[in-house]
Amino acid sequence: MRHLIDPLDFTKEETEELLVLSEDIRRNPEKYQDKCAHKKIATLFYEPSTRTRLSFESAMINLGGSVIGFSSANSSSASKGESVADTIRVISAFADITAIRHPKEGAPMRASMFSSIPVINAGDGGHQHPTQTLADLATIRRRKGRLNNLVIGLCGDLKFGRTVHSLIKSISRWDGIKFVLISPTELKVPDYIINEVLKPNNIEFEETTDLEDALGKLDILYMTRVQKERFFNEEDYVRLKDSYILTEKKMELAKEDMAVLHPLPRVNEIALAVDKDPRAAYFEQVQNGMYVREALILKLLNLA
Ligand code: NCD
Repeated sequence: MRHLIDPLDFTKEETEELLVLSEDIRRNPEKYQDKCAHKKIATLFYEPSTRTRLSFESAMINLGGSVIGFSSANSSSASKGESVADTIRVISAFADITAIRHPKEGAPMRASMFSSIPVINAGDGGHQHPTQTLADLATIRRRKGRLNNLVIGLCGDLKFGRTVHSLIKSISRWDGIKFVLISPTELKVPDYIINEVLKPNNIEFEETTDLEDALGKLDILYMTRVQKERFFNEEDYVRLKDSYILTEKKMELAKEDMAVLHPLPRVNEIALAVDKDPRAAYFEQVQNGMYVREALILKLLNLA
């Protein structure tokens, strides 16, 4: 039985297959509408979510299946002190597959060790978020027609932003990827990303604090929110939260065919006026996320 805990749990080829499958699902929804009849997904969300949880649930419903779950730790037995290991053994008795979001790094991985159903990591603390990466890859592929030979700017909270860590890990497997890592010094990507992912794979990257300076060379700009909930004190958050705000004026510095991605939720880091710029891809990214999750559910349930 397979799980998706880390973006590298699926090879590059398997990841490409999922993206291709997600496009077929988008074009031919009726072909897939009963594939998961009588199957259940359990969405176990110990942390807030809008897109990820509802897109998993929509994905399962689109496939003819149904949904159980909880949307906060408070409404589950976690509030009584139950461990993730016990909860997953219980859930394994009810559902066919599960998506887990948890504030603790490694919680979905631990769940997978005790689970008799496939476990999907729907975000673990400041660590990884592999299904957001599938949505990101699908969006880049649709916008640019390729996943190789791209200059990708990642901007904002690169330290705590789990979507950034997963995207770097995954897309580094394609040829000709270059990263421009744009962040305040205090929010630089963790050392393990540099020392275990970028350097050993000889991936070109540069670190800068200057968004304007970087903009002109990017094929993709991936904006992120400063991750308030992972800060130790409010003061630091307030000081750093508006480090980067993408405006119409700054967009004038960017290539005509650059694509702006954002995993959402947006707080202040993209001005609303940018939404009507044809380069803004963040709302279609949400929709792409639902199709890739359909593909993933089919794959993990051996129905694809
Ligand atoms: C992201 C997350 O939860 O890590 N949201 C999402 O799943 N689309 C990004 C964020 O919360 O900033």
